Amino acid sequence: MSTPPRLVLGIESSCDETAVALVDTQRNILAQRIASQDDKHAPYGGVVPEIAARAHAERLAPMIEAVLEDAGVALEDCDAIAATAGPGLIGGVMVGLVSAKALAMASDTPLLAINHLEGHALSPRLADPDLEFPYLLLLVSGGHCQILLVEGVGHYRRLATTIDDALGEAFDKSAKILGLGFPGGPAVEKLALEGDPGAVPLPRPLKGSSEPHFSFAGLKSAVLRAHESGEHSAANIAASFQQAAVDCLIDRLNHAMERTDPVANLVVAGGVAANQVIRSALEELAKTYGMGFTAPPMSLCTDNAAMIAWAGCERLPLGEFDPLDIAARPRWPLDPDAEPVRGAGVKA
Ligand code: KG4
Ligand code: ZN
Repeated sequence: MSTPPRLVLGIESSCDETAVALVDTQRNILAQRIASQDDKHAPYGGVVPEIAARAHAERLAPMIEAVLEDAGVALEDCDAIAATAGPGLIGGVMVGLVSAKALAMASDTPLLAINHLEGHALSPRLADPDLEFPYLLLLVSGGHCQILLVEGVGHYRRLATTIDDALGEAFDKSAKILGLGFPGGPAVEKLALEGDPGAVPLPRPLKGSSEPHFSFAGLKSAVLRAHESGEHSAANIAASFQQAAVDCLIDRLNHAMERTDPVANLVVAGGVAANQVIRSALEELAKTYGMGFTAPPMSLCTDNAAMIAWAGCERLPLGEFDPLDIAARPRWPLDPDAEPVRGAGVKA
């Protein structure tokens, strides 16, 4: 006789999405809600931490109520309450984690403090029941740019990270320079369709480097200089920037793949995975290595709570719940054994 599915309530509030979801161990998303704060941050061209935290505090409780109601589930029916406990903007993380603690305490339900990066890393398995460990993950979002070998639940090897900006951040800052909207990624991709990717000579930071990491700060500065020179159209700069970003991703993935044991699948996750040019380039790369290529649906790539609830589902069998005094962590590397990277402003 098969065991009945177990149920996890997930909460995500580490950046500018307030999200709540109910997911079961058979990969059903019973209900979910996501409230974007784009309109609140757009006037500033980036996420303002204080504004984000206040918005989470206003929106989260009614959203939890609504998700439970949508699914017709009582808090007491949940097998765990999972919340992002870091890394991220600390004010927002605290709103989500403290809410989860209160719910756990009131309903006598176990608490799971989830690493946001673990949520991204395991999300492809929520979408694809056939995706087995290990797989190679490119995690590209507004806050992160990492290559991870996902070996199993709780077993992540970070092969590369950025020594300065995340790729989504570089898209957003380039969009700001070019006078496009926020978030900038989709705007840059759209404008790039009208431009020539070879028109503007832009650097490929760390391309060919013997170290494994990414760097995008120099590329962003070059975009600024190209724009200020007045010699190039915004469309040509956008297309050339996007091409430079693709070249960097492929070069760094080649570097990682040549130095690790072969795995069956290459997976991409994070908001930047929405970019079609990047997706196609990754698919081609996977083909040359004889690997499968998987990209979860966009709703699971960008920040969401289903991935946090799913990480909770994956961790349920381990039986390792978290105490009510667990701290929120603005930085929380997924792979604690990863070598620290050089440079200031290093991201976890
Ligand atoms: O995963 P996500 O929703 O939030 C973070 O954890 O940061 O990713 C948001 C990032 C933003 O920087 C946004 O500009 C970028 O993903 N993004 C894109 C595209 N769509 C979203 N970047 C490039 N091309 C896109 N089509
Ligand atoms: Zn994220």
